[in-house]
Amino acid sequence: YSEEELYRPNFHFTPKKAWMNDPNGMFYYNGYYHLYYQYHPESNVWGPMHWGHAISTDMISWIEQPIALYPDELGTIFSGSAVVDIGNTSGFGEVSNAAPIVAIYTNSKQLEGDDNWKQTQSIAYSNDEGKTFTKFENNPVIDNDKIKDFRDPKVSWDEERNKWVMVLAAGDKIMFYDSKDLKKWNLLSEFGQGIGGHGGVWECPDLFKLPVLGTDESKWVLFVSINPGGPNGGSATQYFIGDFDGTTFTMDKEFESSLSKEHNYWIDFGRDNYAGVTWSNATRKDGSKLMLGWMSNWFYAQKVPTEAWRSAMTIAREVQLQKNENGYRLLMNPVKELSNYRSIKYKKENIEVNTDTKLIDSNAIDLARAEIKFNISNLNEEGFTFSLTNKKGDSLAFGFNHNDKNFFVDRRKSGKIDFEERFADRISTAKRTSLNKDLSGTIIIDKTSLEIFFDNGETVMTEIFFPNAPFEKLSIKPEVKEFTLSKIEINELNFN
Ligand code: FRU
Repeated sequence: YSEEELYRPNFHFTPKKAWMNDPNGMFYYNGYYHLYYQYHPESNVWGPMHWGHAISTDMISWIEQPIALYPDELGTIFSGSAVVDIGNTSGFGEVSNAAPIVAIYTNSKQLEGDDNWKQTQSIAYSNDEGKTFTKFENNPVIDNDKIKDFRDPKVSWDEERNKWVMVLAAGDKIMFYDSKDLKKWNLLSEFGQGIGGHGGVWECPDLFKLPVLGTDESKWVLFVSINPGGPNGGSATQYFIGDFDGTTFTMDKEFESSLSKEHNYWIDFGRDNYAGVTWSNATRKDGSKLMLGWMSNWFYAQKVPTEAWRSAMTIAREVQLQKNENGYRLLMNPVKELSNYRSIKYKKENIEVNTDTKLIDSNAIDLARAEIKFNISNLNEEGFTFSLTNKKGDSLAFGFNHNDKNFFVDRRKSGKIDFEERFADRISTAKRTSLNKDLSGTIIIDKTSLEIFFDNGETVMTEIFFPNAPFEKLSIKPEVKEFTLSKIEINELNFN
């Protein structure tokens, strides 16, 4: 590897060159998943934003496309969404047998003074399935002179009421709008002041309906990204469970009372999953939604040790909703398409772990592209630590601490950490919410990222790292008492 490519992920999306942040405008149409993203083609730090573009048939292997949206006289192009306008409600459709794609985004225009901008909402349409866009002649479709942070429109089709619904972040709240044609928008309601996390500005909302697993019931989910104020510092995405009647989002009563006791509703407790929203027009047959997030954190994103490009996206995830003794919880797991890339399998049962026990090394499986599934039955007194290590003495530790019932990721010795103080100033933790006495997990490892899905995706932690050489050994050790690793399965993921 060259110094630079040492850090480029094997299978997470990165732009070939330059700076990237939030995923934008994600939709599915005619066999392709589209991913647009906040992009600054001139530099490896944030600047005047464009929408970059990539396509995929499976949300895993991406092909980068030409830039889709450039700044204009209304401002630069901030985050937003795209919809497949199947009914041609917008009238933008020009091609028979093909629906227009309509992008809804924020124009951000710098005004006099450093910290002063005008943010408005605009639209653009595509009649070639998202390759090229034409901006609407009457932009903006939502003007604004009053609100400082007013951005990231996420639009979806409300099937029950036959209309478009937009959620928009406005500083410390979410504003709800509706429209018949994507051009004229009516303000419906607001949600959020004094509710949930408010350690920073609210950004990148999403609103969608999910079936509650194993029931006939459905609930509405509201995602709200917040920066800073995440559970382990910096950027993170919280969620609310409730109902939407076409006008107002109301939290579920039980959800509301548990939220007021302790706010632990985060789609990811790691420090590197931000601004994630779901794909339009891509609901699975079982009702689950698909999403991915930006795998970084505003605390240090612009300083991570890559040069030619900066930032990757998380692995795409399926989103489901369950209800148990604990109330409502989202479940997030890697999309099943990832399993098509498994190539080597290592499987073992009933490993007695009483000391640091080697599980595998890079002679058997490349630990820079691995999927690991494990089970520990009857978790009693045990806590455990997995470690990834290399010959340079770097290590990345993660596991479960039995004393405080916390999952954790510790990257304090994971390699290059001193590019920003807040990158490795703590061990990230996540309270275990599941009451199951068996613990299971799925771990996705790339060259520079770790994504852990504990308890069938009830608690997720995503973190990036920059080792001085690839990690080549995986081991596990007990916290205090020996225990049995009931099952472990390790797959190398092959992308050629
Ligand atoms: C979130 C965010 C959005 C904004 C975009 C600008 O990371 O701040 O609110 O639209 O990034 O790049």
